[in-house]
Amino acid sequence: MRKFLIASNNPHKVEELNRILNPLGIGAVTPKEYGVDLGNVEETGKTFRENAEIKARSAFKLTGIPSIADDSGLMVDALDGRPGVYSARYAGENASDKDRYSKILSEMKDVPQDKRTARFVSSICCIIDENTIIRVEGYAEGKIGYKPKGNDGFGYDPIFITDSGKTFAELSPKEKDNISHRGNALRMLRKELLSYLKEK
Ligand code: IMP
Repeated sequence: MRKFLIASNNPHKVEELNRILNPLGIGAVTPKEYGVDLGNVEETGKTFRENAEIKARSAFKLTGIPSIADDSGLMVDALDGRPGVYSARYAGENASDKDRYSKILSEMKDVPQDKRTARFVSSICCIIDENTIIRVEGYAEGKIGYKPKGNDGFGYDPIFITDSGKTFAELSPKEKDNISHRGNALRMLRKELLSYLKEK
């Protein structure tokens, strides 16, 4: 099985990627499993796409094997797109998920229902070799609630209301995968990889 490096030690992301890659004859390995340390790559990009590429390039430079990185976050229209690329650090370095979503709820306490639109973005960059780079981006549209709801998921899930009226945190992992930004990006990645492998 071909090995692709995943520029993340997050087991949740690796598992998701393996579900997509294994049927294509590709196995995801973490930096740890591959015996390298990517260090703390500075995410200096202004967009998710730039940050995903910074991380993928750094992994590819270090290992020389095909490398995949992703960057994701939440963009709220009433907050001019914040927290955006700062989603993971929105309430400071040592803050919790609850601190972060509570900050958004308090910033939006006076925003009316019809102005609470938001989207999750997941940008994935896959560098196969110097001349072959696949970039995909998936989105999930929704609205920010007035209070948190649900116990599943992570991050901003409890305040992100989908078309069904339920928050991401009230959906099962499978239901979330079907409509999530990351699920959409991974389905696009699979399609692109399939056509790349067919051409080879
Ligand atoms: P990163 O892509 O691992 O840097 O994560 C960025 C941040 O965006 C996470 O720490 C979460 O706060 C947020 N985020 C990304 N995807 C999701 C999601 O599916 N649900 C909730 N929060 C998310």
